[in-house]
Amino acid sequence: MVLSVAAGLSSCVITPDKMEQAPIDPKRAEAFAAKDSNGHAIQLYTLRNKNGMTVELSNYGATIVSINVPDKNGKVENVTLGYDDHAGLASGTSYFGCVVGRYGNRIAKGTFNIDGVEYHAPLNNGLNTLHGGINSIDKQVWKARVMNDAIAFSITIPDDQNGYPGNLKLKVVYSLREDNSLAIDYTASTDKSTVINVTNHAYFNLSGDPSRKNLDHELMINADRFTPVDSTLIPTGELRPVKGTPFDFTIAKAIGKDIEADDEQLKFGGGYDHNFVLNTNSKNVPAVVVKEKSSGRMMEVFTTEPGVQFYTGNFLNGVEKGRGVAYQHRTGFCLETQHFPDSPNQPAFPTTLLKPGETFKSQTIYKFGLIAE
Ligand code: BGC
Repeated sequence: MVLSVAAGLSSCVITPDKMEQAPIDPKRAEAFAAKDSNGHAIQLYTLRNKNGMTVELSNYGATIVSINVPDKNGKVENVTLGYDDHAGLASGTSYFGCVVGRYGNRIAKGTFNIDGVEYHAPLNNGLNTLHGGINSIDKQVWKARVMNDAIAFSITIPDDQNGYPGNLKLKVVYSLREDNSLAIDYTASTDKSTVINVTNHAYFNLSGDPSRKNLDHELMINADRFTPVDSTLIPTGELRPVKGTPFDFTIAKAIGKDIEADDEQLKFGGGYDHNFVLNTNSKNVPAVVVKEKSSGRMMEVFTTEPGVQFYTGNFLNGVEKGRGVAYQHRTGFCLETQHFPDSPNQPAFPTTLLKPGETFKSQTIYKFGLIAE
């Protein structure tokens, strides 16, 4: 179910039978309510299921503001890093919970070629373009449509914005289900051939305590290969077996087990900041499973995407603040389901080209539960 409240408004979308189990914190709604410079309204939306799980979303950046999940004692806590208000979202630089695109992850030198025409996106990450470039869709106001148990955000990215060709119509639907899974469905179409790679950039900490390091989370990534990178985090093109390397998460191990190993790839990333080539795209077989023993929480990730960027929050350094803390090094981790970085320049990688008349579709599910005793 979806609840929607803007500061100063009483515009709620609450079915009457659910009202009593759907309290909204007006202070929270007010903190995330704003208007952009064009007068477009920004507001907080809350999805809630019968198990007491809630997901807060903002139409600014189509952002996951929080995901609140019960632990083994039934205590509901936020399992993502986040800000306390809209100002935090607007000034943040770490992409907490937002949708990144139109090309998430990196494009080498911001340059790519479609049908013999060279395109240039602004460089915002050393020599490269990261997450679409500055002021991309993560810093814009999306249209919101409230549905029964879901919320749809949509945006049209104009032709040539940040140098990418084509008016790209993009829709992201967040649905909260009764099995404690949050499904994210992406759909896009274009009027000129373009490149697309969209994902959500939530940082997770399943302990519920954002001051705790993520290193003791147990992680399984269903990937026999990963895409090694150069020192600027651009893939070399190789699909390297994980076997015998710190990148082998095929059998669950703590995130921190090998993170300090003497390994060139880990040095380039300052930890894990790499795309894994998934063995599965099935709705029934998880691509990733994470377990956090102190809270008893676990999360499974299912995706139709061919890869996942596993990023251990290596660049967090106490500058970003929220939830009563300054987020420190490796307190959150991201599982960005995606096509591979720099695919427009890597013909052997699955294509990220979208042509007029085609529909891009992608689905990722983050499913929460408890570790079996
Ligand atoms: C990238 C990191 C980057 C982070 C925040 C991740 O997707 O792989 O290198 O620091 O996003 O921008």
